[in-house]
Amino acid sequence: MLGVGLLVHLLPGWAGGLGAPVGPATLRPAERGLALARSRGCTACHSLDGTRGVGPSWFASWGAERQLKDGRRVIVDERYLRLAMTDPAVELVEGYDPVMLPAAFTEAELQDVLMLIRGLGSAPAP
Ligand code: HEC
Repeated sequence: MLGVGLLVHLLPGWAGGLGAPVGPATLRPAERGLALARSRGCTACHSLDGTRGVGPSWFASWGAERQLKDGRRVIVDERYLRLAMTDPAVELVEGYDPVMLPAAFTEAELQDVLMLIRGLGSAPAP
């Protein structure tokens, strides 16, 4: 239960049902996304708390604006995040090295990580 308490602390936005029994089958999408991001090594480069890493932090990134290397500016939304995960070379973020490999996720896993990132909060509209 310590792990779950930590999750609730990290991700207050989607935490609910405190005290409900939590087993692997009943984990919420964002919790599954977090477990996945950790086990696949994503969190080695992406922080959850706003700290700059090798890659952009996922904290409060939903709705934020990204300056791309090709000069375009895009909003962090589902379209952007999907592409960033499945084909990172297409939209490279300015200021970061192009070191990310495509994530080998099933559609269900992709959805879980999307829910994790959304659950980490939104940036104010640019
Ligand atoms: C070796 C470091 C590294 C690892 C490991 C890594 N990434 Fe990245 N990621 C980056 C970098 C650098 C960028 C920014 C440059 C770019 O667009 O590719 C990025 C960009 C992203 C973005 C867009 C973020 C934003 O806020 O603009 C998402 C989403 C993302 N990665 C998801 C993942 C997922 C999911 C995994 C695990 C399967 C992962 N990354 C593993 C380095 C990494």
